[in-house]
Amino acid sequence: MLRATFAGRSHRSAEGQARLKEVIDRSRALLRLPSDYRLAIVPGSDTGAMEIALWSLLGARGVDVFTWDSFGELWAEDITQHLRLKDVRVHAAGYGALPDLGAADGRRDIVFTWNGTTSGVRVPDADWIGEDREGLTICDATSAAFAVDLPWSKLDVATWSWQKVLGGEAAHGMLVLSPRAVARLESHTPSWPIPKLFRLTRKGRLMEEIFEGFAINTPSMLCVQDQIDALCWAESLGGLPALIARCDRSLAAIARWQRTSAWADFLARRADTRSNTSVCLGLVEDWFVALTEAERRAIVNAMTELLAREAVACDIGAYRAAPPGLRIWCGATVDTADVEALLPWLDWAYNEVRVRYHAARQ
Ligand SMILES: Cc1ncc(COP(=O)(O)O)c(C=O)c1O
Repeated sequence: MLRATFAGRSHRSAEGQARLKEVIDRSRALLRLPSDYRLAIVPGSDTGAMEIALWSLLGARGVDVFTWDSFGELWAEDITQHLRLKDVRVHAAGYGALPDLGAADGRRDIVFTWNGTTSGVRVPDADWIGEDREGLTICDATSAAFAVDLPWSKLDVATWSWQKVLGGEAAHGMLVLSPRAVARLESHTPSWPIPKLFRLTRKGRLMEEIFEGFAINTPSMLCVQDQIDALCWAESLGGLPALIARCDRSLAAIARWQRTSAWADFLARRADTRSNTSVCLGLVEDWFVALTEAERRAIVNAMTELLAREAVACDIGAYRAAPPGLRIWCGATVDTADVEALLPWLDWAYNEVRVRYHAARQ
């Protein structure tokens, strides 16, 4: 139960602001942010945080955008079709693969998603980003933050939302800025208007108060308290290493099961790119692969309905834009024992649906 909530009170009061600052300070400590990096609570969850970064920082240099799932595609769309930047290279890969990260040019800005939540593919590391880069790296790190040891020296901007790895209530987003990102903000004026909701500078200077808990607009203090609660829980477990270990253990449990499975395989083609939070699986037996996409979707829907009816799993179907398959959430709030308990049920649901499908065709 959520205790000591500050619901119904002003976020601008001393106590309200202290609670917002508490979210910033606890997140900063858990993620081991360098002391010269800034962290803010911003409107619009992860989407808001990413769009604040894109709208505020881009336009000074060419941009390399790397995409391999639907969220990466959204950022590419923002940059090419809404900001209408001309000097943009989109490096795209389909579901299950990574694009050629070696194509990143350190003289340009780089935009990427650490963990493609809808494909279950993540970057294995940031070795492809130079320490001596001239451009900025802007990283959508939602569903990676708190599940991966993010290499801060390679990231100038990182964003996440409250509801992913820590399982908080969705509301505001989190935005990290490196000193170089702040220098860009203070030296570059975008050619497009910046809505108040996205504005981080005043008269060309960073609005430092935003990074001290003075939110741009009104946050839900109920959700703020829930995030404090999640952060305290994370600390009580042992902090970042414990959170990462919980996600890794669940992924390992699924990998053990998958190795002996005749019908399921990871969507991520390379083992070192498998997400430890959004684990995406495809169905690979010949009869299934031979079906049309609509038929495959119907088969997966039948499986997910069975699992929901048995109260075994909710929302376990792949993202609507992804190939028909399953997605198992393994964020830090999930117990590996529950993931292990789920796996035999997946075999059961698959066999039920397979038998029914073949019986209907006889
Ligand atoms: C990688 C990624 N980026 C962005 C988003 C959008 O996040 P939000 O709904 O918090 O704005 C999501 C949500 O699932 C995501 O997984």
